[in-house]
Amino acid sequence: MKITVIGSGYVGLVTGACLSEHGNDVLCLDVDSRKIEMLQRGEIPIHEPGLEEIVRRNAAAGRLRFTTDLAASVAHGTVQFIAVGTPPDEDGSADLQYVLAAARNIARHMTDYKVVVDKSTVPVGTADKVKAAIAEELAARGIALPYSVVSNPEFLKEGAAVEDFMKPDRIVIGADDERAVHVMRSIYLPFQRNHDRTLVMDVRSAELTKYAANAMLATRISFMNELANLAEVLGADIELVRRGIGSDPRIGYSFLYPGVGYGGSCFPKDVKALCRTAQEHDMDLRVLQAVEAANDVQKMRLVHKVTARLGENLAGRRFALWGLAFKPRTDDMREAPSLVIVNELLSRGATVCAFDPVAMHEARRILGDRIDYADSPLAALAGADALLVVTEWKEFQCPDFERIKALLKQPLIFDGRNLFDPLAVKEYGIEYEAIGRR
Ligand code: UDX
Repeated sequence: MKITVIGSGYVGLVTGACLSEHGNDVLCLDVDSRKIEMLQRGEIPIHEPGLEEIVRRNAAAGRLRFTTDLAASVAHGTVQFIAVGTPPDEDGSADLQYVLAAARNIARHMTDYKVVVDKSTVPVGTADKVKAAIAEELAARGIALPYSVVSNPEFLKEGAAVEDFMKPDRIVIGADDERAVHVMRSIYLPFQRNHDRTLVMDVRSAELTKYAANAMLATRISFMNELANLAEVLGADIELVRRGIGSDPRIGYSFLYPGVGYGGSCFPKDVKALCRTAQEHDMDLRVLQAVEAANDVQKMRLVHKVTARLGENLAGRRFALWGLAFKPRTDDMREAPSLVIVNELLSRGATVCAFDPVAMHEARRILGDRIDYADSPLAALAGADALLVVTEWKEFQCPDFERIKALLKQPLIFDGRNLFDPLAVKEYGIEYEAIGRR
């Protein structure tokens, strides 16, 4: 099938690459000519395991191409995926200008039937706005052409996006007409594996499903973070509690890990946007408002532990930071707890030396020379008053505690991701503070 993907960012690129992997003829559009030139050279602007290989393979086979030519991109695909950004407005609602501009561009150039697919995370009601924008442009051209608007939200986790796309739990298709459902089903047929994972529903329900999923996951995290903080004052161990409740199949084990708060490009933005959507309808989502507030508090948790131990004034102190990305297997630092932690430490007069396996480049872009950068986890420790673990990279899990102890000024670890066994660390004579651990 001929498919166009509008927006070659994180979601668009993964979508385009994975669809070409199954033999579709995919053209990816972006307004950023530098990005398109990079992609044409086979260079991937983001860090995502497995993506480069798929892009190169399919580009070489001629099934995956990149362009800045708008008219050509509209002419190409019967299906036009819109995967452009929806940054939060000042009030937290999603800014739809890029989505609607993409829809209008399709309408200005189309000459036959198009299935226009909202892939970006967009508020409930956006498909109707897309439909109206296309209708308006077609009317301005004085022609009537058939088109369908579909909501097909992505559920991709950064660091596992290719795997998530190739082996989805479910494929949500929100469509109000049979013709579009037929086209979408045929696109996703190769991704079904052993049973049909397609959930066909009305457009609004599909749009809400995306927000509901992220809001539910964020809720679990904030809930566990608050319980972890409570466990600390009660002298309980959240790790045991986590297993105790996760073993109930109604609860399950996933997304119950307490830490330094959730970050990334989705949860913070989507939680805000859903609260905002409710408010626009004179409703307060009280649970979700609390989820967001609890997360803001949690991002400060590690710093509060530091100041409780070392005092409010951190002038002259130096801290080693392990991990800058908002989670492992990505270089993404959007809404990363590390940024809150770094800013807070610096504002209290401390210096910071950080290491991250892949986000160093991104950190330099954002933080510049406000912090120091080490080229290995151990190198970050030299002369530091304490180690702060902020991202749970695998390579941090089994460190040489003897070396850590020797390199730190004092043997002190603040672990924001509960990576280590408290008893084992203690045996090395290292003071260890984690989240909700006894
Ligand atoms: C999320 C959703 O999982 C994905 O389905 C959606 O499409 C986009 O948003 P992503 O932002 O890539 O994906 O990261 P995810 O792995 O979900 O983690 C989000 C944040 O929650 C991270 O900061 C992570 O550290 C935190 N988290 C996750 C916890 O603090 N505890 C957990 O138990 C799980």
